[in-house]
Amino acid sequence: MPEHPLTTAVVESWSGAADPRLRDLMAALTRHLHAFVEEVALTPQEWEQGIGFLTATGQMCDDVRQEFILLSDTMGVSMLVDAINNRKGQGGTESTVLGPFYAAGSPELPLGANIAREPGGRPCFLSGHVLAPDGSPIEGARLDVWHSNSEGFYNVQQLDTQPAGNLRGVFHTDAQGRWWFQSIMPSSYPVPEDGTVGNLLRAMGRHAWRPAHVHFIISAPGFQTLTTHLFVNGDQYLDSDAVFGVKDSLIVDFVRHDEPGEIAERGLSEPFFTAEYEFVLERASVAAEREAVAV
Ligand code: BEZ
Ligand code: FE
Repeated sequence: MPEHPLTTAVVESWSGAADPRLRDLMAALTRHLHAFVEEVALTPQEWEQGIGFLTATGQMCDDVRQEFILLSDTMGVSMLVDAINNRKGQGGTESTVLGPFYAAGSPELPLGANIAREPGGRPCFLSGHVLAPDGSPIEGARLDVWHSNSEGFYNVQQLDTQPAGNLRGVFHTDAQGRWWFQSIMPSSYPVPEDGTVGNLLRAMGRHAWRPAHVHFIISAPGFQTLTTHLFVNGDQYLDSDAVFGVKDSLIVDFVRHDEPGEIAERGLSEPFFTAEYEFVLERASVAAEREAVAV
């Protein structure tokens, strides 16, 4: 089908843009948007409904709530941007979405510290290494970690009830690249459902749940910063994550320990879990070269 004259006119109208990348983005966006309108034969009522949805989505946004990012997440756009910009095969650990519950300024803690600051939840010990692609340890790598409590809430969602800094911490690897800390088992949870995205998910017959996971941002001088999660193997939502963030390489066995001797050795009185993971950071030069090739 030949391009509609309106589409051609709008694309041409962008041709004077000073920034060529902006011109190309607007031209492609125009073509795809016009093609969508033509393909579905959008009615004036549907157009109005769409505008109403986007307006209400914007009105949900403030300093702590970003409904547009949630829309991007639940439409798979965030993970597509991640996939295009962090292509596999470079030897580094795979990345996934940052999510809205990251908070800068988490407490700096010594290796081994417990990030759970309230009672409840099954004890869990996480550990591993941060390595360069050649397997050599990275000393002093910074791990910023955060996860939900046993009811599925991050502390920033419950500032009145959860202690400050609960289930968050910043750690640095030792000379062997090792990291370890104590926490509780994370739980699966629904993304916020009280806004326009929740309405959309319900209208589309989709659930809002994310499988249980622990978030990490790992950085070290000379290496590309990694934003990722570790997912709990066996979680019922691994195959239907509401934000499409699961990658097989990030699914980890959280091993349950019931042995009374092991429990006592850890100073506990109940079963606990352990999980291990070796993170690999790409060298910054490789990442920069790949970006240069991509443009
Ligand atoms: C999260 O894992 O924290 C998250 C990611 C995307 C949307 C909502 C939550
Ligand atoms: Fe999360």
